[in-house]
Amino acid sequence: MLPLVFIFLHVFSEDGYRLWLRYAPVENAVLLQKYQNQVKNIVLKADTPSLKAAKTELETALLKMLGIRPVFTETVEGRNNLVIELPDDFDVIKNNTGAQELQVIGNEGFILRQIKNENFIIVANSHVGLLYGVFRFLQILQQEQPLPELNVVDAPKTQVRILNHWDNLDRTVERGYAGFSLWDWFRLPDVIHPRYIDYARANASVGINGTAITNVNANAQILTPVYLEKVKALADAFRPYGLKVYLTARFSAPMELDNLPTADPHDKQVQDWWNRKVEEIYSYIPDFGGFLVKADSEGQPGPHNYNRTQAEGANMLADAVAPFGGIVMWRAFVYDQHMPEDRTKQAYNEFKPLDGKFRDNVIVQVKNGPLDFQPREPFHPLFGGMEKTNLMMEFQITQEYLGFSTHLVFLAPLYEECLQFDTHAKGKGSTVAKTIDGSLYGQKLTGMAGVSNIGTDRNWTGHPFGQANWYAFGRLAWNPYLGSREIANEWIKMTFTKNHDFVRPVKKMMLDSRETCVNYMTPLGLHHIMAAGHHHGPGPWVEGRRPDWTAIYYHRASADSIGFNRSSSGSNAIGQYHQPVAELFDNSKSCPEEFLLWFHRVPWDYRVKSGNTLWDEMAYRYNQGVNDVRTMQQTWNSLKDFVDNERFRYVESLLGIQEKEAVWWRNSCLLYFQTFSNMPIPDAIEQPDKTLEYYMGIRELYMPGHH
Ligand code: GCU
Repeated sequence: MLPLVFIFLHVFSEDGYRLWLRYAPVENAVLLQKYQNQVKNIVLKADTPSLKAAKTELETALLKMLGIRPVFTETVEGRNNLVIELPDDFDVIKNNTGAQELQVIGNEGFILRQIKNENFIIVANSHVGLLYGVFRFLQILQQEQPLPELNVVDAPKTQVRILNHWDNLDRTVERGYAGFSLWDWFRLPDVIHPRYIDYARANASVGINGTAITNVNANAQILTPVYLEKVKALADAFRPYGLKVYLTARFSAPMELDNLPTADPHDKQVQDWWNRKVEEIYSYIPDFGGFLVKADSEGQPGPHNYNRTQAEGANMLADAVAPFGGIVMWRAFVYDQHMPEDRTKQAYNEFKPLDGKFRDNVIVQVKNGPLDFQPREPFHPLFGGMEKTNLMMEFQITQEYLGFSTHLVFLAPLYEECLQFDTHAKGKGSTVAKTIDGSLYGQKLTGMAGVSNIGTDRNWTGHPFGQANWYAFGRLAWNPYLGSREIANEWIKMTFTKNHDFVRPVKKMMLDSRETCVNYMTPLGLHHIMAAGHHHGPGPWVEGRRPDWTAIYYHRASADSIGFNRSSSGSNAIGQYHQPVAELFDNSKSCPEEFLLWFHRVPWDYRVKSGNTLWDEMAYRYNQGVNDVRTMQQTWNSLKDFVDNERFRYVESLLGIQEKEAVWWRNSCLLYFQTFSNMPIPDAIEQPDKTLEYYMGIRELYMPGHH
């Protein structure tokens, strides 16, 4: 007879909608009984929207996981109570927490603790903190961890933990590969889809507390009353979950919406316009978070149009939102095609001289690397370069340059690599993480943004494993010091199963997947060699157009060498880093090989550390990437019995696409670069079965995310 769980998996399919909040039945019988006892009585006064949300979550989760309906009371009696309250409300809490820890957890943190008589407490200084505590408690149950001696004191290390949706008002999503925008503008404000609530729940469950709901390539219409009504409806739906709404502000909005002759930040009329507009926004949304701004970049208007600095532009908006407690996230992604300077140097050149000139409620939002969300980049030199400015991290969760929503690429290792890089800004140990959480320079305002990969696809992110990237972003925004392994572990257990025989291989597959992607796309520091426009698939031959949007600008391949010389003998981008990082990158011998062609121009017959010539090494790495995708396929195929049919088949098909595309990447890049190196593709690797002309002739139309 087939085991029950086997039948269950194959008969009942899952569509991925429930994310990591599936609340699967607890399997360990001993634990199940203990948990059931433990949560029978819950002391919780659900008299605010956030606490009501906490109660509903507990009811749903405990019924599904433990098969019980707990009793909610307002008094602690006897043993086995789960007490969820603010510190002042109960003696049992006062007696079991110290003033100092309550200070440590701040406004959003929480304490989970076992106390006398097998009672448990979840304590926080705010209702949202309690909700976060409840989610964490449920995560512990979901992972089937034993409760005795539970003692968690946790608080977020950054303040603004925010998703950036590049969603347009017509519901297309720039660089979105999971369907259309979640925001149903047409039916808002009247229709509040349950999905908005599930979105807020998922965010709260990992501590994400903000959402910028509109594209950075902004549309001024969002600031008009018709849309503000709709934004208000979303903000109202999200509020119980501690999720604040932010909007992107188009710098030229005063001209576009009210025909002002200028948008000059020094113009009194312009300032007044923004002041009035902000007042109006707050009349709809009293806890509006503030603005996210892309200015003077890729065609967006900005202070440059009036010969003003980025600080002058940002400060004008900051002054408008300051009386209401709002902030301005001002993006550092500023570069100009007419500038002869190496594109990767431009943001630093622009912002570094402005250090200390931004208002306290401005936070400069810096992409993880100096170019644009490549599979691998060195960290952005503004981290550790701005001592007197609030800086926040911008990671991309959507996989614009990493295979869209068809490639399985777990991004936590990419995030972790960046966060753990030592900038040496204040000596050894000055990691990027410390430059954004306020611990290095004592910045008052801190944060992390993630460009969302979420859309209307039933499973939210297109690829079931794309959910892990949303999850990982949230966890790292909360605590930038967490490790990828730990994050993967949590996610797999909650999203699939706790069975070790599944968790172990899947974790390995996830942890290796980013390096695999780097290998089949851009090994050895290659970058920006994706197809033009939509960025899907290889395009190392892309030329023409504006040079900083071509591939040849970046790889500079010729008959003798390849790579961008950013060393002191080249563009000197290394000069933007502190010592000894600058020196490390400057010398091709000491430069980590994964950044070799990012910083150096290297002859094809240059010997890399393995002893291979650069050309052979490149070929081996491309091939390794393909082989590793095949290994991923084998791993997944061996796990069929642990996964429901629907998710199993879907991931299996997507891995099939990933394998085909990895081959496409390897073959086209090797054939193309071979026209420069004139060296044979080593016999040991699979030879391309198509010509370069074939690959160069591929034209993909109507790609998602590109409009
Ligand atoms: C990339 C991306 C654009 C996006 C831009 C940004 O260049 O391709 O679609 O608008 O980043 O971050 O502003």
